[in-house]
Amino acid sequence: MFNTMHWVAILILAGICGVSQAQYYYEDELWMQYLLRQARVPSYNYVPYYEDESPPYYYAPGEMSVAEPAPEPVQPVSRQCPQECDCPPNLPSAMYCDGRNLRYLPFVPSRMKYVYFQNNQITSIQEAAFDNATNLEWIALHGNQISSEKMGKKIFAKLKNLERLYLNNNNLTKMPGPLPRSLRELHLAYNQISKIPANALEGLENLTALYLSHNYIYEIAASFKGLKSLILVDLSYNHLRKVPDGLPIALEQLYLDYNYINTIPDEYFKVSPKLLYVRLAHNTLTNEGLASNAFNSSSILELDLSYNRFQKIPRVSTQLENLYLQGNQINEFSISSFCTVVDVMNFSRLQVLRLDGNEIQRNAMPPDAPLCLRRANVIEI
Ligand SMILES: *[C@@H]1O[C@H](CO)[C@@H](O)[C@H](O)[C@H]1NC(C)=O
Ligand SMILES: *[C@@H]1O[C@H](CO)[C@@H](O)[C@H](O)[C@H]1NC(C)=O
Ligand SMILES: *[C@@H]1O[C@H](CO)[C@@H](O)[C@H](O)[C@H]1NC(C)=O
Ligand SMILES: *[C@@H]1O[C@H](CO)[C@@H](O)[C@H](O)[C@H]1NC(C)=O
Ligand SMILES: *[C@@H]1O[C@H](CO)[C@@H](O)[C@H](O)[C@H]1NC(C)=O
Repeated sequence: MFNTMHWVAILILAGICGVSQAQYYYEDELWMQYLLRQARVPSYNYVPYYEDESPPYYYAPGEMSVAEPAPEPVQPVSRQCPQECDCPPNLPSAMYCDGRNLRYLPFVPSRMKYVYFQNNQITSIQEAAFDNATNLEWIALHGNQISSEKMGKKIFAKLKNLERLYLNNNNLTKMPGPLPRSLRELHLAYNQISKIPANALEGLENLTALYLSHNYIYEIAASFKGLKSLILVDLSYNHLRKVPDGLPIALEQLYLDYNYINTIPDEYFKVSPKLLYVRLAHNTLTNEGLASNAFNSSSILELDLSYNRFQKIPRVSTQLENLYLQGNQINEFSISSFCTVVDVMNFSRLQVLRLDGNEIQRNAMPPDAPLCLRRANVIEI
């Protein structure tokens, strides 16, 4: 698909900040040069900082020195450890039971705060599993075969210190719950969950990251609005036909790619004034399904609308820096999508614009493009 017919217009602006400099280049007609595309532009310009899909893992048995004597146990009772697991003497509150073909959950001694059960063949969690381990802060259960039917209903609610719960890559068909209000990260990607009920996330005031990609979610009855600490929501690779109601106020990263979303309501993103990255690639968005001010958010820096069904470039805020629109059906380069007024003070902050894989002629750049898009580094047509 990316052959020699793809062109990159590289807008060369040595000192990209100065208006006078931009005008200088503009007047000299040096501003824009079309160059044959040689190399791929990196897919995203920003690397979101909150992308922590696997749990931190501090214990590496191979690194432990056998020559060093283990510290004297302070209380003999606190050394209790199930024989299937490793409980390193220097980490008295951690228990490692991962990757051992376990089919059941081992007993968790009450001193434990960090338990690792990932990559086993655990299919069930009995109701009393964590009854004695109420200090648990991290539970890693990803990469098992736990189904919702075989998971106790109240196992997590009583863990008042639980901050991270990893249940991704299991066989869950329902949201687990109730969940403790202390929870900060909830990892549920790669399950078979189809609905998020209204009360599923209730009261999770400290929830910062919610990972729900690669499920079958088509219905979200819960509102994210009350989740006042939520920074990241990943709902990509699901079956959503509409965007979730009520975004949270602290949200910075919203991933909705690979769904069937076809509309975005007016000023939808405005309730999240810190929103930086929005990914909506591979949906079924059209210009008709979009309110005219849908993307009028001055905080968004990166907007991925690639592989949708746009025929025109949607209106975006002048503060936007990266816009991905490749793989749509766009047939005109409308500068009013970026700038309603073009003059010395009014211009777009856009740096990267991808329009390849559309129906635009490469000579379709309007004459006022240089002045409006004066910050652009890369425009791919
Ligand atoms: C649970 O904890 C109590 C008190 O810490 C202890 O006496 C009891 O033996 C524990 N239960 C199990 C099954 O280990
Ligand atoms: C869990 O799902 C996998 C993949 O879909 C399947 O192979 C496996 O049999 C399931 N396990 C259980 C216990 O349902
Ligand atoms: C949320 O986090 C704050 C700050 O770390 C903490 O003081 C508070 O107890 C937490 N809330 C809950 C319900 O655990
Ligand atoms: C976009 O939002 C800004 C600030 O909230 C507002 O002033 C402006 O009128 C909006 N743009 C349009 C075209 O409505
Ligand atoms: C153009 O710039 C001026 C001066 O900064 C500002 O007052 C005006 O609102 C801008 N107009 C638009 C449409 O952004």
